[in-house]
Amino acid sequence: MTTPRYFKRFRMERSLVPPPALIAPPPGFRLVGWKDHLLDLHADTLFRSFADDPDGKVFPNLASVTGCRFLMRAVWGLRGFCPAACWLMAGPDGFAGAVQGVVDSAGLGAIQNLGVTPDARGQGLGAALLAAAVNGFHRAGVRWCHLEVTADNDPAVRLYRRFGFRKTRVKYHAASPAEAAPTPAGV
Ligand SMILES: CC(C)(COP(=O)(O)OP(=O)(O)OC[C@H]1O[C@@H](n2cnc3c(N)ncnc32)[C@H](O)[C@@H]1OP(=O)(O)O)[C@@H](O)C(=O)NCCC(=O)NCCS
Repeated sequence: MTTPRYFKRFRMERSLVPPPALIAPPPGFRLVGWKDHLLDLHADTLFRSFADDPDGKVFPNLASVTGCRFLMRAVWGLRGFCPAACWLMAGPDGFAGAVQGVVDSAGLGAIQNLGVTPDARGQGLGAALLAAAVNGFHRAGVRWCHLEVTADNDPAVRLYRRFGFRKTRVKYHAASPAEAAPTPAGV
């Protein structure tokens, strides 16, 4: 039996009243809204965004294309899957980022798997995706939003804080290299 590693995670939350302003992507990039046939493109973009980052260890599904495809199908199949909160970022060299959102059983928006490919970071794509997702929740009638982030993921924590998300809870996630079930990363 493999001993799991424990990762410290923050739950962060913010009100969507009012929602944050939308952010235009930089020149050459555009946001692409959800369509069912884009599911595998979301998965492949997540893989390229997470594979070499720490969350690929926290959620082993994120470290393989197959795992990301399982994960995307699991998210898509949830009752609260929220198409308005799911976005791809198209760029000059292909898709450079993705985000998904679900509405949980309490009616709160839960951001899932925000990722930008390593070569495309630091130019506002993460912020534009996050703004599109939370505005999508707002349009779907959601008024409070939360997410989870690995505590030492400084770029992500900074982005979420800049967006007004505040830490409400500390959790520990047990990750085993043998983890096989498609566990949505953000919830
Ligand atoms: C977290 C993540 C999504 C951020 O994506 P990103 O596209 O780099 O985000 P942004 O460009 O909006 O912001 C990143 C930084 O670039 C800066 N920036 C944004 N636009 C800029 C510009 N035009 N010029 C210079 N800097 C810019 C931001 O101020 C920010 O700086 P900071 O980190 O010092 O606060 C990305 O690092 C990632 O995908 N990481 C791996 C996956 C992951 O961990 N996801 C989070 C799961 S919870």
